[in-house]
Amino acid sequence: MTAQLITGISELTTQAAETSHDDDRLLDAALVIENGRISWIGPAAEAPAADTSVDVGGRAVLPGWVDTHTHLIFAGDRAAEFEARIAGQRYAAGGIATTMAATRSATSADLIGNARRLRREAEAQGTTFLETKTGYGLDLASELRSAQAAAEVADVVTYLGAHVVPPGLDRRDYLDLVTGPMLAAVSPHVDFIDAFCETGAFDVEESHEVLLAGRAAGLGLRLHGNQLGFSGGVRLAVELGCASVDHCNHLEEADIDALAGSGTVATLLPACDLSTREPFPPARRLLDAGAHIALASNCNPGTSYTTSMPFSVATAVLQMGLTVREAVWAATRGAARSVGREHGPDAVGSLTIGGRADLQVLDAPSVAHLAYRPGVSLCLATWTEGVRAARTQPGF
Ligand code: NIG
Repeated sequence: MTAQLITGISELTTQAAETSHDDDRLLDAALVIENGRISWIGPAAEAPAADTSVDVGGRAVLPGWVDTHTHLIFAGDRAAEFEARIAGQRYAAGGIATTMAATRSATSADLIGNARRLRREAEAQGTTFLETKTGYGLDLASELRSAQAAAEVADVVTYLGAHVVPPGLDRRDYLDLVTGPMLAAVSPHVDFIDAFCETGAFDVEESHEVLLAGRAAGLGLRLHGNQLGFSGGVRLAVELGCASVDHCNHLEEADIDALAGSGTVATLLPACDLSTREPFPPARRLLDAGAHIALASNCNPGTSYTTSMPFSVATAVLQMGLTVREAVWAATRGAARSVGREHGPDAVGSLTIGGRADLQVLDAPSVAHLAYRPGVSLCLATWTEGVRAARTQPGF
């Protein structure tokens, strides 16, 4: 058993506390990793001897980002659609069909290669745990191979056959496929089911039907809701006890109350909101009401072509009224809650004795620099399950 000491930590954010309001910061700290797990955390001056040692030179250490909303299984890009949007055109769900056509034409190797490229990009920015979805295949064979590809690349996989009804298909026929043979085919490869509950995609009744079918197949539930308008998705997600409802841009007071009184996490996607020019979700009001929130990148070719969790965190602080500590909590432990990985032996998003050693080192003395120095690549190194990524910068 090899013990690895990481010392010289100016500020260690553990996220060991149950909420972002609690103090979970240790100054002048060290930690020890053994067998992919944290075996000791404490003051640097009291650190035990270890087989190897890394001095990070007065830098901040925190859990690796937990990115719980991405759509990495796709081919092509939609830069032209983005430019039209920036010129004034509103985002609509119909653009998904463009990516569907490109995805169906790609080989499985291309899809996996592209997703791996994006995962590497995310890892270089501190992400150590990642969810991804199907949803650009939209026929049985293409959704199945998307689910298989996703399972090769991501830690958690979500089935999003209910992304849009493919052009030319009858809605009822497509829903029967999504909730029947397609669901049966993908189920062995996925953890969650999702639906895009929005104008131009699926209404509340249709989304309800999709989620119930997924639950009957043993899958966890998530939902895209209230992104482009008051879709009713948030209320449905709370009613069904979804693990997460994602986007949440347009919320009435009753939606906030419903979320606050529930275990459903509101997953907010600030990079997407900038790209679609939707109003930001009322993050401050959600937190103040007592709702649980997470932050994710929503990396996809249509509405948010970025893998950057630091960008999402900085935007949440600078534009959405969160404190740095709240935003970091939402991108680590809050996100872990939304995929059922907050507690237990496989917990992610926190650094605790016996827990997974998934962490990142910032080229900065504190996490405040994530928002104080927006747009600057601060991640120097990551460890995932105790293994240091080979690609990170030298220097310590
Ligand atoms: O989360 N909202 C639905 N799905 C994606 C958009 C997908 C696309 O337009 O390609 C999202 O923003």
